[in-house]
Amino acid sequence: MEASRRLYERALKVFPGGVNSPVRALVEPHPFYVERGEGAYLYTVDGRRLLDMVLGYGPLILGHRHPKVLEALREALDRGWLYGAPAEAEVRLAEKILSHVKPGGMVRFVNSGTEATMTAIRLARGYTGRRLVVKFDGCYHGSHDGVLVAAGSAAGELGIPASEGVPGEVARLTLVARYNDLESVYTLFQKYGDDIAAVIVEPVAANMGVVPPRRGFLEGLRKVTREYGALLIFDEVVTGFRLSLGGAQEYYGVDADIVTLGKVIGGGLPVGAVVAGRRVMERLAPSGKVFNAGTFNAHPLTMAAGLVTLEVLESEGLSRASESMKAVAEVLGEEAGRLGLEYTVNRVESMAQIFFGKGEVWNADDARASDHRLYKALHREMLREGVFIAPSQMESLFTSTAHGPAEAELFAEAYRRALRRAIRG
Ligand SMILES: Cc1ncc(COP(=O)(O)O)c(C=O)c1O
Repeated sequence: MEASRRLYERALKVFPGGVNSPVRALVEPHPFYVERGEGAYLYTVDGRRLLDMVLGYGPLILGHRHPKVLEALREALDRGWLYGAPAEAEVRLAEKILSHVKPGGMVRFVNSGTEATMTAIRLARGYTGRRLVVKFDGCYHGSHDGVLVAAGSAAGELGIPASEGVPGEVARLTLVARYNDLESVYTLFQKYGDDIAAVIVEPVAANMGVVPPRRGFLEGLRKVTREYGALLIFDEVVTGFRLSLGGAQEYYGVDADIVTLGKVIGGGLPVGAVVAGRRVMERLAPSGKVFNAGTFNAHPLTMAAGLVTLEVLESEGLSRASESMKAVAEVLGEEAGRLGLEYTVNRVESMAQIFFGKGEVWNADDARASDHRLYKALHREMLREGVFIAPSQMESLFTSTAHGPAEAELFAEAYRRALRRAIRG
């Protein structure tokens, strides 16, 4: 780890906290620096090979450096990489997305999940002429002001800023409800229903570990938003093209008014997208008066990588990624049980996380109550064993189509040793 440590010391002088996105600083004992990625593995500047269960925090559904993505990127590079004018690939990618996600709808490409949710919320406000947005405690929708809002003393209240620099006036436009708790949503609608523009939700929460929706939760959100004339936004930045090609809408059979996508649809390059029916989408500039623009929107390299990624998923499916995670999730629980720990493993297809402690995990309070210290120790010991799991309890583990039985076995062996050491502290 000597080469990584030296780079980190230099990084601490030029980046706040030494990194460019906070979660990267949580890697213990310090961030490792990557030389290259291949398939299910990362190779570090220290000469180590790591089994990657993070996958860029979700985008790399085909694993690192998939040959077809590489070929498409090389081919796109050859034709230049920024035009400031449209190109065919953006039309093809939008058509492909719409064939799975919202037939008859429209797309706006942006450059990150953050931009996608920011635009979706602006669009919902423009469309409804209302001000307030309901989000859920523990759901993450990127780093813009309106969603950097936490629940107050109890969920079901006007939000308070979750970051310095977010004015209270802005945070108060976001109402915070409890995940998987429809009562907390009804309370907000009874009080503020006439002024609620949208409910934004991660249909499977991937930012409090992994927390699936309880039966009826998403359906309940659909019903109440319809009743009050608010829009339902599914933030599918993580779940889109991961749960199924149609995302959570297809997986759970619930239709949202607006879907935000990111991560997988860019094949590992920066991307975000807003998807909705024509009536809503035509409110966006230039056909409507809700503004969004971007120098890099529908970037040619991203479009090329995204298109080929979705084509590979169409021909090969998602089952290999899901099967690998099934095996990983089983071993997570089995070994914890064998060592006498209380635990919950939540898995949905190729996303999973373990929580140490009593009781099931259905919301952010449950996730916060789990034993983060033990998880942290597990992360550190897994890294020593050559497996990179998310450094925070509040993130998901991911598998890709490059993860097969050999990777599941490698994970299992590492985990058996790492968990024993983690318990000892
Ligand atoms: C559900 C969800 N929405 C939005 C975002 C923000 O995406 P980005 O990091 O691309 O801005 C994330 C990021 O992890 C996310 O998990």
